[in-house]
Amino acid sequence: MAQVSLRKIVKAYEGDVQAVKGINLEIDDHEFVVLVGPSGCGKSTTLRMIAGLEEITDGEIAIGGAVVNDIPPRDRDIAMVFQNYALYPHMSVYDNMAFGLTLRKFPKAEIDKRVKEAARILDITPLLERKPKALSGGQRQRVAMGRAIVRDPKVFLFDEPLSNLDAKLRVQMRTEIKKVHQTVRTTTVYVTHDQVEAMTLADRVVVMNQGIIEQVGPPQELYHHPATKFVAGFIGSPAMNFMPARLEEASGALNVTLANGTSLPVPDSRSARYRPHVGKALLFGIRPEHLTDEKTMDKDNLAPLSLTPEVIEPMGMETLAHFRQDGAEITARLDPATPAEVGVPLRLLAHMDQMHLIDPTNDKVL
Ligand SMILES: Nc1ncnc2c1ncn2[C@@H]1O[C@H](COP(=O)(O)OP(=O)(O)O)[C@@H](O)[C@H]1O
Ligand SMILES: [Mg+2]
Repeated sequence: MAQVSLRKIVKAYEGDVQAVKGINLEIDDHEFVVLVGPSGCGKSTTLRMIAGLEEITDGEIAIGGAVVNDIPPRDRDIAMVFQNYALYPHMSVYDNMAFGLTLRKFPKAEIDKRVKEAARILDITPLLERKPKALSGGQRQRVAMGRAIVRDPKVFLFDEPLSNLDAKLRVQMRTEIKKVHQTVRTTTVYVTHDQVEAMTLADRVVVMNQGIIEQVGPPQELYHHPATKFVAGFIGSPAMNFMPARLEEASGALNVTLANGTSLPVPDSRSARYRPHVGKALLFGIRPEHLTDEKTMDKDNLAPLSLTPEVIEPMGMETLAHFRQDGAEITARLDPATPAEVGVPLRLLAHMDQMHLIDPTNDKVL
């Protein structure tokens, strides 16, 4: 097992398109790191550079302390699992998992031990003699992971391994992957565009956007303390609401005043941090779960505001209400028993302890 270091990594494709623009990242031994971001932001390119499948235009990659820039993929001691995990159709599950080790001339007894141990971890022992066509999608995905596990590599690399599975299976396999990592503890770099997958799997999440890293941190830190508007909007579902607002001071206290004139008191604990920005036009950020009805359990720093629902979506355990205010689309999460009607003004509470302010000139969270 090993740590992985990316130092000022650049990837320029032909035509001078910079897919990755000088990123730095230190991944610890045993760590599970997820690269997440929208399609085209450079996740796969980054992963493929770690694997050695893509040349690095500039910078340095080290695995286990040794620079691997000039080491071919097969000598990097990594195992990669893709979205399209082609299994050999004419081979049994056992042989599919053993194949890589057989090529590398491992002794038969060692291969047998590793395949059986991987099958045990993945709970596929009864399937070892089957051919891939006799397996479900989830079982095939496990075999693909088994192939990686038997290699006992320094690093696992996953590129959207669950994207081809249906929603229910995706959630199951997500849990499986987490269990496997808790057992084998192999350093893992996992790529996905799905922020829920990223949040649930990662020790640390790396949010990428247009070839740069926006923020790196444990899931809860990204959720509670996003550094940029991009991260604030990308992490969390439904996404954070952003409303144009002005920060004002009245008799020593700070208020966020929305475009429609509603004034929301800022908690005292934020005064020192926000005071330098009094008078500025900012974005007020509040997550749907912090814009609720009066049934909330929170007691402190709730600010009332009235909005008129355009669409109401009962979800079962909660109801989502959608509004439009001063050009902003706003979502609130309501108790399902709260009477809410399209076109009828609804009294909401903004949980100001969970508020964010964003400077629209640089999209930084204040
Ligand atoms: N072989 C290639 N040649 C030219 N451009 C490429 C190539 N592969 C990827 N790109 C471009 O690099 C950017 C990042 O791609 P990629 O790393 O695949 O994104 P992601 O995996 O985050 O969706 C995209 O703009 C993509 O079009
Ligand atoms: Mg990709």
